[in-house]
Amino acid sequence: MLNTIKLTLTRTLLYTLLAAISVACTAAPAEPAIPTATDVPPTEVATQAPTEVPTEMPTVEPTQSAAEIYQDPTQPIAARVDAVLAEMTLAEKIGQMTLIEKGSIDPTAVTDYAIGGILSGGGGYPKGNNTPEGWAEMVDGYQQAALDTRLGIPMIYGVDAVHGHSNVVGTVVFPHNIGLGAANNPELMTRIGEITAAEMVATGIYWNYGPAVSVPQDIRWGRTYEGYSEDTAIVSSLSSAYLRGLQQDDLSAPDTVLATVKHFVADGGTRWGSSTTGNYQMDQGVARGDMELLRRVHLPPYEVAIENGAQSVMISFSSWNYVKMHGNRELITGVLIDELGFDGFIVADWGGVDQISLSYYESVVRAINAGIDMNMVPYDYETFINTLTIAVDAGDVSEDRIDEAVRNILKVKFALGLFEAPFSNPDYLERVGSDAHREVARQAVRESAVLLKNEGDLLPLDPAQTEIFVAGKAADDIGIQSGGWTIEWQGKAGDITVGTTILEGIQATVSTDTTVHYDKFGHFDEITDTPSTCIAVVGEQPYAEGFGDDPDLELEARDKRMLRRMAETCETLTVLLVSGRPLVLNDLYDQWDAFVAVWLPGTEGQGVADVLFGDYPFTGTLPYTWPRSVDQLPFDFATLQAEDVLFSRGFGLIE
Ligand code: BGC
Ligand code: BGC
Repeated sequence: MLNTIKLTLTRTLLYTLLAAISVACTAAPAEPAIPTATDVPPTEVATQAPTEVPTEMPTVEPTQSAAEIYQDPTQPIAARVDAVLAEMTLAEKIGQMTLIEKGSIDPTAVTDYAIGGILSGGGGYPKGNNTPEGWAEMVDGYQQAALDTRLGIPMIYGVDAVHGHSNVVGTVVFPHNIGLGAANNPELMTRIGEITAAEMVATGIYWNYGPAVSVPQDIRWGRTYEGYSEDTAIVSSLSSAYLRGLQQDDLSAPDTVLATVKHFVADGGTRWGSSTTGNYQMDQGVARGDMELLRRVHLPPYEVAIENGAQSVMISFSSWNYVKMHGNRELITGVLIDELGFDGFIVADWGGVDQISLSYYESVVRAINAGIDMNMVPYDYETFINTLTIAVDAGDVSEDRIDEAVRNILKVKFALGLFEAPFSNPDYLERVGSDAHREVARQAVRESAVLLKNEGDLLPLDPAQTEIFVAGKAADDIGIQSGGWTIEWQGKAGDITVGTTILEGIQATVSTDTTVHYDKFGHFDEITDTPSTCIAVVGEQPYAEGFGDDPDLELEARDKRMLRRMAETCETLTVLLVSGRPLVLNDLYDQWDAFVAVWLPGTEGQGVADVLFGDYPFTGTLPYTWPRSVDQLPFDFATLQAEDVLFSRGFGLIE
């Protein structure tokens, strides 16, 4: 994995280098010659690499009348934007358009370059102090640096709080979206959005890189769990309910954050083998189809999000009909802005701009002209700033386009109330990871569990029986049950944050007379030859993005061995699957008495015990179709018959 990260980095460096030695940019990467509606527009950009250093930052104070207007919350936003924009130099405007990963810049440079945005990528916590207080201090430090600029424009700090504020130790971590798709409860989604926002503002972060409105069409994709469902309508309804929770009715309220709808567009439609990033197979790959497919499957969640007040959209790494989305003016400006009427700001994904062309100069020109307002650089901001400056000087990017981008960004910063309240809100610190927040996550966990098999009505289990035998690597592991995007980008097995494991939930639920035996590997032979009630908790190790692209979707060999052994010895066997998607179960499944998909529940494992022992009924239903074999993928949903698959979408034994 490290190698692949290095590889990606080296590639980025290579691109920059290639741009720097001004390679002629006629050679596009080899593309299959298929007719598409969105052919790459002919580019007429200079191929000269940056040679000049951008103009120095001015030091003169803004005119008093301008500052009086834009710093005055009673003025209309449009007037405030006009007032500040009129004062800005090109360097300051380009600074606004620059979004940098926090480890790549220190606060002094934020002031020097008048930087508009900073982010924590996955795992981007303050080193040595991953606490809510540590985050608040770090983010406030960057904010102070932004306010120390001549114009005092606050920066906006972004984070992937994609299932709760999940990079921060001690926060509540909700089930990943696939589980919330199984719960399919819009009211609950709004509540989850509110809680996530409350935990974010405690740390000074007002910008969330969620909801993902991906509509994954092939579960081999490593980001399947980030999508609520393979069904567009479910994605639209849950993502917009969540967005309303994050933003509520008034973005400027102290406990709201800006949502980011991502990844525009058709990130869930890429094909196996189409990716050219590192060892990835599907992630960042190519989605193909006509406009009818795009409009039917992938676009509706954006329409609904815009109706619900979306003000930030992130562009997808992927390509649509071989055109990289980051340079796709036809879909970004043509469809998202002109047709759907999106009027917030558009942000690039992590180095996504760099992938448009082998020439960095051309990539920047194409991306900004396509409609991207803020570039998630994320590392080498000097090269980006220099390159865009030269492109404006050369007339390849117009000053009008720059002004428009800056307007879009500033408009949202004013609407968010950042000028009035730029810092963290310490009043919320004590609510981070609070019992009240965890209660809601626990509800989400029990509503997300899907009961798929229940021979002889084995479930709910009797909490008063003498002995219960629990096995499996996922039974007592907060890291595994939380999955990717938890503390670390890729997630991590082990005791990585505060919460209740599935095993702890079981122990807390059974009667005081019940003995719960736990063995990770399911060896109970020293206790008994005939374990009575067995519960095996198996599943996937954490992963994120293309590292989770999986060609066969099998259980790990050691899980299979354990399950076979337990099926032979246990009187009854209940299997709980902790995973980011359906896995292929083959004949194993026939040997189980009961089977529950619990997805990636997050920190509140108690919710699993709630349904297992009947304190609450099972209500979850499958958000994705469950294949019998991997050869069936990708499904042709138009012709798929219920009898072809193990379980259809929407299935779930409801008690
Ligand atoms: C992911 C985005 C994420 C961004 C920032 C990218 O690699 O594709 O979903 O928001 O990183 O962490
Ligand atoms: C970051 C992620 C980002 C990824 C992109 C990682 O180092 O932590 O947030 O999505 O790089 O490749």
